[in-house]
Amino acid sequence: MTTVLDVQRFKDEGRRFAMLTAYDFLSARILDEAGIPILLVGDSLGMVVLGHPTTLPVTMEDMLHHAKAVSRGARQALLVGDMPFMSYQASVEQAITSAGRFVQEAGMHAVKLEGGGRVIEITRRLTEIGIPVMGHVGLTPQFVHQMGGFKVQGKTDAQAAHILADARGLEQAGAFSIVLEGVPSKLASAITHALRIPTIGIGAGPATDGQVLVLHDMLGLTSGKAPKFVKRYANLAEEIARAATAYADDVRDGKFPGPEHEYSANGSAPTKDREEVRYGG
Ligand code: KIV
Repeated sequence: MTTVLDVQRFKDEGRRFAMLTAYDFLSARILDEAGIPILLVGDSLGMVVLGHPTTLPVTMEDMLHHAKAVSRGARQALLVGDMPFMSYQASVEQAITSAGRFVQEAGMHAVKLEGGGRVIEITRRLTEIGIPVMGHVGLTPQFVHQMGGFKVQGKTDAQAAHILADARGLEQAGAFSIVLEGVPSKLASAITHALRIPTIGIGAGPATDGQVLVLHDMLGLTSGKAPKFVKRYANLAEEIARAATAYADDVRDGKFPGPEHEYSANGSAPTKDREEVRYGG
């Protein structure tokens, strides 16, 4: 199983690594079996799974529901639960309670928190009680209203220095890694070289130690033009639409179900077939 020590070793040995988001049992199982070392149950699920315009409406209950499904599907990956808006901002005690729920109720191995500043103290306390923390600086979607939209951060020298200081503070507080989102490549490179712990980039160029993408973006499940930093490795939205249309056409034309899909009196039990499909039995 991948641990936070392995993630540090990746950086120490110069091995670049991938992280992906996962939100359910099946995708977690597929990604885990494909050897993705870190699965993030991201609060991006609010946008790509639940259809909200931002991540702000996502609750702890939403996150736990999905995190539990992911931990049922994954065996090898390091599982990181993303602390949703207002699950840690009120106090250190609130953060400890929320992070504890991710570990105790949902089987997560670590949590991720957005921001620097007061989050640095929260990171210290969580690390002290044995809950590994992944930091997240730069474009932090929970600050969307303060940033005036989902905008690249750290373009000015002052902003860049602030982000670097936050990243250093998180490292000193015990974070085991830091997501750098939506920052210029030059800044991501400077932070990556300045830190001992690994950086994981998204929209932060090629210099970070690891990369993360939102699963639905890289699979081509999200609609519209992909953001510049996304590479689409598949076009599953088109594939799903094609399959659904073919199925509907077959039903309309009386081609499905065919004789090969019918159960005979002495055939295998439907329940057993279903279990094999779901659990790969
Ligand atoms: O919620 C999420 O998916 C994230 C990643 C984009 C890092 O925070």
